[in-house]
Amino acid sequence: QLIKSHVQDGKIKIPGLQTPLPKCHGLGGQTPLQILAACSESQVSEKGFCNRLTVIGCGTSWHAALLAEYQIETMARIPVESQYASEFRYREPTLRTGDALVVVSMSGETTDAVEALRRVRSSPNGNSVLTIAIVNEMDSTLARECDVALDVCAGTGIGVASTKTFSATNMVFVLMSLALADECGQIAGRENLIQKLQELPDSMQEVLDKEAKPLVTDVGDRSIEIGECPLWDIGCQNVLARNFIFLGRGFNFPVALEGAMKCKELAYIHAEGYPAAEMKHGPIALIDEFMPVVVICPKADASYEKIKSNIEEVRARNGATIAITEKHNHELEQICEYVIGVPETHEYLMPLLAILPLQLLAYMMGILKGNTVDHPRGLVKSVSVK
Ligand code: M6R
Repeated sequence: QLIKSHVQDGKIKIPGLQTPLPKCHGLGGQTPLQILAACSESQVSEKGFCNRLTVIGCGTSWHAALLAEYQIETMARIPVESQYASEFRYREPTLRTGDALVVVSMSGETTDAVEALRRVRSSPNGNSVLTIAIVNEMDSTLARECDVALDVCAGTGIGVASTKTFSATNMVFVLMSLALADECGQIAGRENLIQKLQELPDSMQEVLDKEAKPLVTDVGDRSIEIGECPLWDIGCQNVLARNFIFLGRGFNFPVALEGAMKCKELAYIHAEGYPAAEMKHGPIALIDEFMPVVVICPKADASYEKIKSNIEEVRARNGATIAITEKHNHELEQICEYVIGVPETHEYLMPLLAILPLQLLAYMMGILKGNTVDHPRGLVKSVSVK
C-alpha cells in the first residue's frame, strides 16, 4: 500500500513532507523536506554549519529508528543520530533552529516518546525545531503534537509484539530517504532501487508463503499449527536452547537486534543481537555447541566476506549457525547448519525480507513451547507508565 501510494512514475510523493509549514511556525514557509535536506552534505558547506536529524523511539520503534540512521545517512548523506526516547527525554535538549526530531511510535502514545517531544517543544528553540511523528495511529497524541505526522499504514495491531509495524516503519524511512536523496541530489542506482522496491511486496509474500505454511498437528495433548518448511525444523531443533545470538552488519544490525527481541518476547529465550564484527570483542567467549547463532548474511551486502568469516569463527567453536541469505546461496549451505533463502533484492531493502524469517522463527518456537504468542507475559501494546 505504501509503495503504491507513494511511488508514482518513479517519483516519491509524501505530501506531509512536501507541503510548506504554516507561517506561524519558526520555520514557516519551507517544506519539511527542505528543512531536512538542509542537514545534508551538499548544503552544509554553503551554510558553514550542520543541522541535525535525531530519530527516537522505544523497543521495536527504536530498532526502526536505528535502521533509519543507516538508511537516511546512506541514501541522502545526512548525519542522523538515533536514541532511545526513554533516555532522550531526560537529557538536556541541544537541538537548534532548523534541526529536526523524528519520533517513531506506532501507538503514538508511548509516554517516553511523548514526553521527549514535549521536552524539546518547551526548550528555548522549541518552535524552530521541525518535529515529525511516524505512527500507526493518526488519531494519537504524537500525531497531534508534532508538526507533521506520517502514517505507516500497517492496519490494526492484534498481537502485542510488533511485527508488521517494524516492516512498515522501515518502508516509510526508505521512502523518506529516497525523497530526501532527490531533494539533495540523486543517489547512484536510483532506478534499480525503485524497481527492486516495486518487486518487494511479491518477494515478502514469497517468504511468507514458503516459510509460514500452516498445518495442524498434535503435540502431546494439544493441537498446534506447524508447517512443512525449514523454519519449523529449525524451531524444533533449537526450541530448548537457553540462549541465542543474532548477528548482522550495517543495515542488518538493527534487524539482528529486532530478531533477538522477538526471540525473548515470543519464545521466552534469552537472546542478544550484535553487530557481527563485535562478536570477537566479547560474545565469542559464549559460543559452544549449545549456542545457536543466527547470522544475516546477504551476498548483496558489501561486507558479505567479512560476515562469512564470522560464521567460520562460530563453526570453529561448534556453534550452530542459521544463515539468512539470498536463495541458492550454495556457499553458505556448505558451512552453515541451516540456511534460509529469501529472494534477491537491493542491499538497502534486505532488512524488509530478512526480518520475516526471524519473526517467524520466534513465533514458531513460542508456539512449540505453548506460549501465548499474541499476548506475551508482562507486555502491553502501549507503555503509558510515566
Ligand atoms: O507504540 P510504540 O511503537 O511507541 O511502542 C514502543 C515499544 O513499546 C514497542 O515497540 C515494543 O517494544 C514492541 N511492541 C515489542 O514487540
